[in-house]
Amino acid sequence: MAPHHSRPSARDLLRFVLAVAVFLTTCGRVAEARYGAGGQLSPVAAIVSEELYSSLFLHKDDAACPAKGFYTYASFIRATRKFPKFGGTGGDLATRKREIAAFLAQISHETTGGWATAPDGPYSWGLCFKEEITPQSNYCDATNKQWPCYPGKSYHGRGPIQISWNYNYGPAGQALGFDGLLNPELVANCSDTAFQTALWFWMTPRQPKPSCHQVMIGDYCPTTAAAAANRTAGFGLVTNIVNGGLECNVANDARVNNRIGFYRRYCQVLGVDVGPNLDCAHQMPYS
Ligand SMILES: *[C@@H]1O[C@H](CO)[C@@H](O)[C@H](O)[C@H]1NC(C)=O
Ligand SMILES: *[C@@H]1O[C@H](CO)[C@@H](O)[C@H](O)[C@H]1NC(C)=O
Repeated sequence: MAPHHSRPSARDLLRFVLAVAVFLTTCGRVAEARYGAGGQLSPVAAIVSEELYSSLFLHKDDAACPAKGFYTYASFIRATRKFPKFGGTGGDLATRKREIAAFLAQISHETTGGWATAPDGPYSWGLCFKEEITPQSNYCDATNKQWPCYPGKSYHGRGPIQISWNYNYGPAGQALGFDGLLNPELVANCSDTAFQTALWFWMTPRQPKPSCHQVMIGDYCPTTAAAAANRTAGFGLVTNIVNGGLECNVANDARVNNRIGFYRRYCQVLGVDVGPNLDCAHQMPYS
């Protein structure tokens, strides 16, 4: 027998109102993205125009892509304004381009809808997915007491970087101003929040890992132990930070090669060399 529907409690109603308020304030802004309130052209927009963005992600709005319409250029640029150091400071133009190419390559691999013989090639299909399709679990690390899971909530991959696990949703939400443990769905429902979580992941060091940003702008010096583990700066180390436990210290891993394929294409489009240490086949992952 179907369970009797109970009337929503005042607490449920309050939660609903709060969730709607969060949704409206984080999703509802339609301010001009390229030029901020001060009329300043965003440094990332100066490198990645809307036309260029569209040319990188040729298929993101295809009917076949579940993220159709979600990853807008305006959301991307608005999110970069929250992280002005991304592609903005700490390097010359080539360094900034390389960092942007690396970020876009990593999020492309995480969300790709491409395959080897796909139209326009496998590296034109980034940003096709916004959510893991068949999560293996709810990605709750119950041993983590600092960021406890809510019953019934799933912390599977969402958004451009496919943020996952309670211990990432919690601090990401705290940094960005939403309750990532209670409302993880926002990352797949709100384009601005989605891009913000990806940039939060990119910009934030999590011990013992440096941030991807530090690695790509040359603000990372390996310790003796890190050097012995071959964790020297380059796109391969970024892959190690993102998913090294599964992909690094493995010969010719298809996922690593896919990330590199996107990165090569984007560096070429931006007119910059790819830099050293592209793969992590000989790097020890972080434990
Ligand atoms: C939010 O995302 C979830 C999946 O994470 C989906 O089931 C739900 O319908 C979405 N809600 C809105 C308002 O888009
Ligand atoms: C470091 O890289 C070299 C060659 O590139 C390799 O021979 C060595 O085994 C690697 N060290 C580790 C700890 O993986």
